[in-house]
Amino acid sequence: MASGVPRRRRGPGRAEEAAGGAPGPAPAPLRFPGLILYLAERRLGRSRRAFLTGLARAKGFRVDQAYSPEVTHVVMEGCSAAEASSWLDRVLGPSGAPQRPLLLDISWFTESMGRGEPVPVEGRHCLGVPLATKSQVDSASLPTYACQRHTPLDHHNLCFTEALETLAEAAGFEESQGRSLSFRRAASVLRALPGPITSMSQLQGLPHFGDHSSRIVQEVLEHGVSREVERVKQSERYQTMKLFTQIFGVGVKTADRWYREGLWTLDDLQGQTRKLSRQQEAGIRHFEDLSTPVWRHEADAIQRIVEEAVWQVLPGATVTMTGGFRRGKLQGHDVDFLITHPVEGQEAGLLPKVMGHLESQGLVRYQHTRNNHYQDTKDLDHMASRNTCMDAYESCFSILWLPKPSPSFYQKSGEGPKEPIRDGKAVRVDLVVAPISQFAFALLGWTGSQHFERELRRFSRAEKKLLLNSHGLYDPEKKESLPATSEEDIFSHLGLQYITPEQRNA
Ligand code: UTP
Ligand code: MN
Repeated sequence: MASGVPRRRRGPGRAEEAAGGAPGPAPAPLRFPGLILYLAERRLGRSRRAFLTGLARAKGFRVDQAYSPEVTHVVMEGCSAAEASSWLDRVLGPSGAPQRPLLLDISWFTESMGRGEPVPVEGRHCLGVPLATKSQVDSASLPTYACQRHTPLDHHNLCFTEALETLAEAAGFEESQGRSLSFRRAASVLRALPGPITSMSQLQGLPHFGDHSSRIVQEVLEHGVSREVERVKQSERYQTMKLFTQIFGVGVKTADRWYREGLWTLDDLQGQTRKLSRQQEAGIRHFEDLSTPVWRHEADAIQRIVEEAVWQVLPGATVTMTGGFRRGKLQGHDVDFLITHPVEGQEAGLLPKVMGHLESQGLVRYQHTRNNHYQDTKDLDHMASRNTCMDAYESCFSILWLPKPSPSFYQKSGEGPKEPIRDGKAVRVDLVVAPISQFAFALLGWTGSQHFERELRRFSRAEKKLLLNSHGLYDPEKKESLPATSEEDIFSHLGLQYITPEQRNA
């Protein structure tokens, strides 16, 4: 942690530092491929930089001593946005670079060291709003549909996307789907840009930028925040709707009804047990755990538990983690799994047995298992032609109990803050079972992001006259389904360049 960093000089010699040597713990094997840190020395000072470098390496981070275009995250201390971006412009030289690294405040580094893994980048970690720099965003080449673009998890325009996505969420609470979608589309465009927006002129030619979204960007550019967004965030309505829709089993309609009935807090709800479904009751009972993010290592632990149960029931079945974690997210609101078996038909009726097995271990806090809604898995045309985002697979929406890791886990994790010792944690887990013939479609459909999926379906319909869902791809004119054994097949049926899961964070 920054506060624990020694400021006294116990400095490594120049030669030692040039060779990348740093005092303190030995480097650990690299744990976060794709993440390359560079700690800018200005303000940090040489010895503190060396100490932090050693600390990060001991935790399995790659930290480069010299800046190169490979660097993905630049960490700076006490820098304004203007200083940071002019520093980067100097480093990159006159030609710039196609992909700029993220410029992050030391707070991101400190939090990541505390957790022992990189924390998701949030607006507060970004170095404010950059002033106009040489960063030139080539808007002309940005395609209209999100499924035609590469959208990485970490991007350069968080201060704008957070504002626009708040307005999208608030519009969703008022069931203004059109308005909500406009803000989402604008935010999604900014997520795909190779560098930060630094002046209004860069919005020209960008798809999906109407007056309102442009005005929000302008406000943030000029004042650092949007007054409209701040007003929404402060409002009782937004805060209550956000709280209620966060409860497992509560959608916008229910949240709105409760709000209008004068229920505003979780305590208010608890006095109203009659009105709650079994799912909502479980959601409230486990609210604290379920509103805490699920971390990657917890998702991995759940995968091992689920796999063990699945293999007991059906050896040879496979369990694939989908959702945000497959897109490279480090934390999520739940864990999504897709289960299949190489022999078509073997997978049918798997979940009740799997859940029974988990239940006998005392690991199930809530479950709602659904049979598949189709008579015959060969009836693919019918399934694929359903123009709905709800699929008909055998599935289970559950709350599972993740027991706390054994004490040796804490010893192994070495220094850094310990996780609170508890018996375990309730985690939302979705299980979906697909026959192998539909697996690729299910995988594509459950990997998300939600906006990426929406755009894929819109693209298929509007540009290719094909209907896409999690069961298949249907040609309504020829009245036939197009088969696929991989996600690549589906992109190629649609005439789209293949986009990897990590680039589907639209
Ligand atoms: P999630 O809601 O789990 O989102 O849906 P996520 O991207 O994993 O993010 P967090 O971290 O959990 O919040 C994952 C994907 O599954 C699809 C959604 O379209 C999304 O792309 N999905 C979800 C369905 O197809 N049907 C559902 O009933 C739920
Ligand atoms: Mn998920």
